[in-house]
Amino acid sequence: MGFSIHWSWLAALLCAFWMGAGVRCACPESNLQMQGGNYTLSNNLERGSMLVYHCPEGYYPYPAITRLCQANNSWRPRPKRFPAQRCRLIECPDPNVLEYGNVSPPQEKYYVDNETTYECYSGYTMRGSATRVCLKNGKWSGSTPICSRDSGDHCANPGIPPGASRVGNMFGIDDTVRYTCNGNLFLVGSSERVCQENSQWSGNEPACYYKHTFDTPLEVSKAFGNSIKESLTTLESTDDIQGERKIRISKNGTLNIYIGVDISDSISEDYVNKSRDAVVKLITTISSFTVTPNYEITFFSSELYEIVNIIDFMDGTAKLSDVKTKLEEFAVGDRNTGTNLNLVFEQFLEKMALIKIRAGEENFKEHRHVIIVFTDGAYNMGGSPAPTVAKIKNSAYLNLADGSRDDYLDIYIFAIGDDIFDDDLMPLTAGTGGNHYFRVKDLEKLQETFDEMIDEDEVKGLCGLHKEYEDHRNELKRKMYPWMAFISTQADGHSKKCMGSLVTPEFVLTAAHCVYGFLPEKVTVEIDDGQHKIKKAKTLFYHPKYNVTAKKDKGINEFYDYDVALIQLEKYVDISTKVRPICIPCTLETNAALHLVDQSCQSQERLLLKNHLERLNFLTRTSNVVDLKDVHAKLGDNRYECIKHAVGVEGITADTLRDAVTDNFICTGGLQPFRDHIACTGDSGGAVYKNFEHRTIQVALVSWGSQQVCRDGGVKESKSNSRDFHINLFKVVDFLKAVLGKQDMDYAPLEFLEN
Ligand SMILES: *[C@@H]1O[C@H](CO)[C@@H](O)[C@H](O)[C@H]1NC(C)=O
Ligand SMILES: *[C@@H]1O[C@H](CO)[C@@H](O)[C@H](O)[C@H]1NC(C)=O
Ligand SMILES: *[C@@H]1O[C@H](CO)[C@@H](O)[C@H](O)[C@H]1NC(C)=O
Ligand SMILES: *[C@@H]1O[C@H](CO)[C@@H](O)[C@H](O)[C@H]1NC(C)=O
Ligand SMILES: *[C@@H]1O[C@H](CO)[C@@H](O)[C@H](O)[C@H]1NC(C)=O
Ligand SMILES: *[C@@H]1O[C@H](CO)[C@@H](O)[C@H](O)[C@H]1NC(C)=O
Repeated sequence: MGFSIHWSWLAALLCAFWMGAGVRCACPESNLQMQGGNYTLSNNLERGSMLVYHCPEGYYPYPAITRLCQANNSWRPRPKRFPAQRCRLIECPDPNVLEYGNVSPPQEKYYVDNETTYECYSGYTMRGSATRVCLKNGKWSGSTPICSRDSGDHCANPGIPPGASRVGNMFGIDDTVRYTCNGNLFLVGSSERVCQENSQWSGNEPACYYKHTFDTPLEVSKAFGNSIKESLTTLESTDDIQGERKIRISKNGTLNIYIGVDISDSISEDYVNKSRDAVVKLITTISSFTVTPNYEITFFSSELYEIVNIIDFMDGTAKLSDVKTKLEEFAVGDRNTGTNLNLVFEQFLEKMALIKIRAGEENFKEHRHVIIVFTDGAYNMGGSPAPTVAKIKNSAYLNLADGSRDDYLDIYIFAIGDDIFDDDLMPLTAGTGGNHYFRVKDLEKLQETFDEMIDEDEVKGLCGLHKEYEDHRNELKRKMYPWMAFISTQADGHSKKCMGSLVTPEFVLTAAHCVYGFLPEKVTVEIDDGQHKIKKAKTLFYHPKYNVTAKKDKGINEFYDYDVALIQLEKYVDISTKVRPICIPCTLETNAALHLVDQSCQSQERLLLKNHLERLNFLTRTSNVVDLKDVHAKLGDNRYECIKHAVGVEGITADTLRDAVTDNFICTGGLQPFRDHIACTGDSGGAVYKNFEHRTIQVALVSWGSQQVCRDGGVKESKSNSRDFHINLFKVVDFLKAVLGKQDMDYAPLEFLEN
């Protein structure tokens, strides 16, 4: 009770403070308290203020989740004495709906952590989970258990999800089953499913949700990811093997993505910020596919706040990086109270009509549309969006209602906020292939799991694709740097260690000085692809101009120009999230990764090494497997100041400096303008790279340094006069192309650009 008195006093004080004189509040504060929990107010007890109840984990607020202070100074819903506002235990829907089997223990209600087991009657076999646990999000773990007998039906028994009832017990072609949810549960998914010719049920499995049921971030991004990937990969260029040759098939369609984010005051600022961040993450994730969609992105309340116009994308005047900046800078200002959900759909409909005019009727047929709306559905003006959504469907389906164009439109609703209007929102979804309605609570986690979307077979071939984690645990290192390779050579009983990078499933790029003079049998490459950690080398290729003694006559004792080598492995590595090639300059794939329209090598170099100071990275071995070194390439006017520190090394003089440090080297290190890291012994041969969105592009490789600052790896800072010299891969493309791009070899060639 002490707390509630304190709270009253605090609220009263805030009212007085805000209203200037006297203790006058718009809405009364009596009977607002909740047993077992507390509440927050978005604007004290003022009109328009939103009250949100909070309960400890495993509980939910009952009967009200939120209250709104209305214009006539009363709460909606009005606080009542009975039933008293309190925190209730989260429950899971009733699993005792299993046919032809037993559920134990039988209970009236099932709460978080309660476990159930399922057994089929004799003669019946089980599909699904035999044991399920009630989870904190109000769902059962695992999948629906189904007991069935082989009856020769065309479709398998679709079962009954917990909390549901099914009408329809015939599973032949065209037979229909219908689901409803019992009690105060509501249905998410397909309420009606038809047994199709291919023996599959149409739609997706329904589930019964309470108001307190949520989808976990992983569930959302898996389901959403699988579905949106359909749209992306149907448009993504693919490789086709015809005879011996690999043919690249590019698809002609266009993908238009429309995103709306609700910022009305029923959604807390925190939710708005997180939805905004989720949108940034989402478009970044999508950009790692080779498809380049057009975006319309808008925030909305009673009016629209457009971030990017899709027409600008079509015209090529909008850039994805600018969109991200604009999104990141978007802050919720003074919000007006209305929510017009219809307005955002009207905007999307209008944009579709404009696209149709621009593209022409014929081309418009090849346009696919994906609409994603983050909202709680609490609209109070503009009316229901349902009629507008019907028009959007007609437009995308070209007025064909036969389902033949269902693939051309997906509408996803990410239901957010504290109090969601499911009944209004669920009918707005559209599209095939899995759930399109998600109840999201943890938006922050959701962003992280968007990464999981790009984890599938169809993106296997994409160079440089990797995961970015905030937390750098050792077991995640291979996923962060899937191209990394460790190289060792054996001679006279001692071994030498270097780094390398996987550039195709069969080739590892490293420094020539790491392997020069060794027989392939003495060279091993460590890449843990889950099969064999150690790979044997089959053939070694060196740059034909590599010759350490070439400039001895000029007094340069060791000359490292063209310090590149390729190691052909005996066996292909298995490509996965943990093992994947890095992108290298001047290939077609790198062009796609950089989203360059212009197919030229120079454009890649201009984009990657454009500034006089370019931030680059390379890896070093440490007890954490590897760690990252940050360096800045000194280019243009900065270059001389950097390379001059090579004077004095191995007979290099001011006169022979340009002979020793040719234009093929990129110089890093020193303290100005940033304190760089410095290479250690053992870092040689490693990729010096740059990340672009989700892709990694190698621009150079570690060759030599002006000083030996450290031995055996480790993250070390540069001294004022220590410098590193890396072979610029743009200068050795001929060599890379001669080996990796060679046609009619026993390995699949990389496609290099003409110029
Ligand atoms: C309100 O309840 C939440 C959830 O139970 C708890 O984390 C928080 O500390 C509480 N706040 C106050 C002021 O008691
Ligand atoms: C306040 O207005 C709402 C509708 O806006 C109405 O339902 C409610 O009865 C009114 N309450 C009072 C106390 O007048
Ligand atoms: C189910 O959960 C409730 C609440 O945590 C607990 O009181 C009860 O003992 C559990 N029942 C079983 C069978 O574990
Ligand atoms: C793509 O368009 C070109 C010409 O515009 C056409 O020749 C080709 O058949 C189209 N490809 C597909 C897959 O539609
Ligand atoms: C939301 O983001 C804006 C701008 O980035 C920031 O100023 C504000 O403090 C954030 N609000 C919350 C609740 O995190
Ligand atoms: C390296 O260069 C030196 C000096 O020009 C030359 O004598 C030697 O033959 C070269 N070595 C190779 C392997 O080409």
